[in-house]
Amino acid sequence: MEDKVISIADRRTQATYELPLHKGALRAMDLRQIKTGPDDFGLMTYDPAFMNTASCESAITFIDGDRGILRYRGYPIEQLAEKCTFLEVAYLVLFGELPTSAELADWVDQITHHTMLHETTKKFLEGFRYDAHPMGMFISTVAALSTVYPGARNVHDAEARKLQIYRLIGKVPTIAAYTYRHSRGFPYVYPDNDLSYPENFMNMLWKMAEPKYQAHPHLAKALDVLFILHADHEQNCSANVMRAVGSSLADPFVCTAAAAAALSGPLHGGANEEVLKMIDEIGSKDRVPAYVESVKAGHGKLMGFGHRIYKNYDPRARIIKWAADRVFEVTGGNPKLEIALELERIALQDEYFVKRKLYPNVDFYSGIMYQAMGFKPEMFTVLFAIPRTVGWLAQWQEMLADPEQKIARPRQIYTGHEARDFVPIEKRGVKAAPPTR
Ligand code: CMC
Repeated sequence: MEDKVISIADRRTQATYELPLHKGALRAMDLRQIKTGPDDFGLMTYDPAFMNTASCESAITFIDGDRGILRYRGYPIEQLAEKCTFLEVAYLVLFGELPTSAELADWVDQITHHTMLHETTKKFLEGFRYDAHPMGMFISTVAALSTVYPGARNVHDAEARKLQIYRLIGKVPTIAAYTYRHSRGFPYVYPDNDLSYPENFMNMLWKMAEPKYQAHPHLAKALDVLFILHADHEQNCSANVMRAVGSSLADPFVCTAAAAAALSGPLHGGANEEVLKMIDEIGSKDRVPAYVESVKAGHGKLMGFGHRIYKNYDPRARIIKWAADRVFEVTGGNPKLEIALELERIALQDEYFVKRKLYPNVDFYSGIMYQAMGFKPEMFTVLFAIPRTVGWLAQWQEMLADPEQKIARPRQIYTGHEARDFVPIEKRGVKAAPPTR
């Protein structure tokens, strides 16, 4: 029992409290009994950016950041990337077990038959400016699906939820491909049910006048592996948004759009686009040392480096390097890769990065690969959002099924003014004293 209880001595009141640990963690609500008197609200925790707060229990993804381990539902990411297709992994992430052959066939069939967009949604996409950022188009169009499927509001109905899951996983590649075709002024290509998930996506992106588009099998496989690596990553910024918005019982389309909005930032999924900009700015291998020095001097960050959880090599970055080799076999060498490798080599032996345990993350190499495959940097984060939709939906379902979850609503430490009287406009010129903290 002893190791499951923690004693807290309150020096303000001389009281001691025996607080039980829940699966090794202290329940923040248990601290509320620690008071200085009957009028005291009780002790809160203060944790900006959730540096040390578990917001949920989850059985989906396990990460050991110190040892560089990532597992979905207990299976090591390396094994899944080698032996599975993305849709097989999507099933695992969403439903907890690897599918049997019959389950997989049904799952693939369902996803394949939900890839089309309503024609009005296609028209909606046409309304964007020619130079609209694909991520902005993606976020808005996913949100707009909410208007097409009002039944999605039945979030407590398991069958309705399943249908929206099919729709979202089926339609996100179509939306992504349409954002690209729109920006190039190309006609949209409808989904082709004969093709696998990555091949169909490539077909919708790149088919021109040929009767049947043939994706290079190595490139289709590499894309599938990248999708597997990006499927989920436990309570990251966008997963947290998915859960927070979902906790208000909003429908999964707007929740997914909100999560995608979180992903679009340069510190999260937008980093892959930033890595390419950085490599272009460096320009050549010999300029890498000077660039690293400028980062150390406080001029920006090394994009694609560092992680809140990984304090070791990101296991996904290792697998991406393997997949990159297969891509470059097809597309030929890439001078950007040389710059990236040099950047990694120099940073990994530099005291600044070693001390802070900053290693390449998933975004460091993915962009270089995507570009070699023919994607524009603006598309990179959209490529991240397609597979991550699976993780968001798994997190959303788990949140809804968890009896302990309620609407997400953190507390604050108020630092503003005490109550003060209204000042009529003619008496306002004098600056009020700033609030004291
Ligand atoms: N380049 C240079 N210094 C860095 C970097 C970097 N990429 N990342 C962190 N640091 C420094 C930071 O300045 C701080 O130094 P000090 O202790 O002297 O103040 C120290 O390392 C700790 O960093 P932090 O900002 O407290 O770490 P965090 O956990 O809050 O941030 C991060 C994690 C991923 C936002 C950050 O490492 C970063 O901005 N990296 C670049 C952007 C990036 O690659 N993001 C993709 C993350 S992986 C995929 C995803 O989540 O979508």
